[in-house]
Amino acid sequence: MDREPYSAKLGGPTGIYPYTVKVERYLEDLREYFHDRKLVEYMLSRGENPLIYVVYEISRESEGEFNVGCTIIYPGKVGDEYYFTKGHFHLKEPTSEVYIGISGEGVILMQDRSGNVAAEEIKPGTIVYIPPGLAHRSINTGKTDLVFLAIYPSDAGHDYETIRRSGFAKLVVERNGKPTIIDNPNYRG
Ligand SMILES: [Fe+2]
Repeated sequence: MDREPYSAKLGGPTGIYPYTVKVERYLEDLREYFHDRKLVEYMLSRGENPLIYVVYEISRESEGEFNVGCTIIYPGKVGDEYYFTKGHFHLKEPTSEVYIGISGEGVILMQDRSGNVAAEEIKPGTIVYIPPGLAHRSINTGKTDLVFLAIYPSDAGHDYETIRRSGFAKLVVERNGKPTIIDNPNYRG
C-alpha cells in the first residue's frame, strides 16, 4: 500500500526484509546481454542456466515515493565477462538513483545516450550516485555475492530495450586475473 510508513531490516539473506517484489534473472534472461553469445547458447543447450542475480524490493507506485531494493549479484563469469545486471535507462529520464554497497565488490557502469561511459567502484559503505539520463549496470567483480541497496523514484520506470539492442560501450572482463574495463566491439550505439 502506498503512502504508508514502514521500516525494514537491512541485511540477512534477502538484503532487506520484508519485501514486496522478488525478481530473479537467470542466464537465459540475459542471453542477449553477455558479449559471448555463442558461449551463452552453448551453455543453455547443455542445460546450464545459472541464476545470475536477484532483486528484493519494497515497491511503491505513486509519484514522490521511492522504491527501495536490494540487488544480489552472484559471483561468476560467462567466458571472461563478469556476471552483471541487464542495465537500463529510466523511462522517466529526469530521475536519479542512489546505490549503497552492503557486501562484496563490483563496478557500476553508467552510460549516456551518446555512449560515453563512467565507472564507479562499489563495496561495503560506498555510496554511488547515478544522475538523471544515464543507463546503469552493476557488475560483480569479486569472489563473493555483490549486495547493494538501490533507492530510486517509484515512477522512474525501466527501459531495458535500449540496452538490449545497443549494449554498453564498455565491458568489464577478467584480464590477467584482474577486472578490466575494455571497449565493447559489438556496441551498436
Ligand atoms: Fe535504475
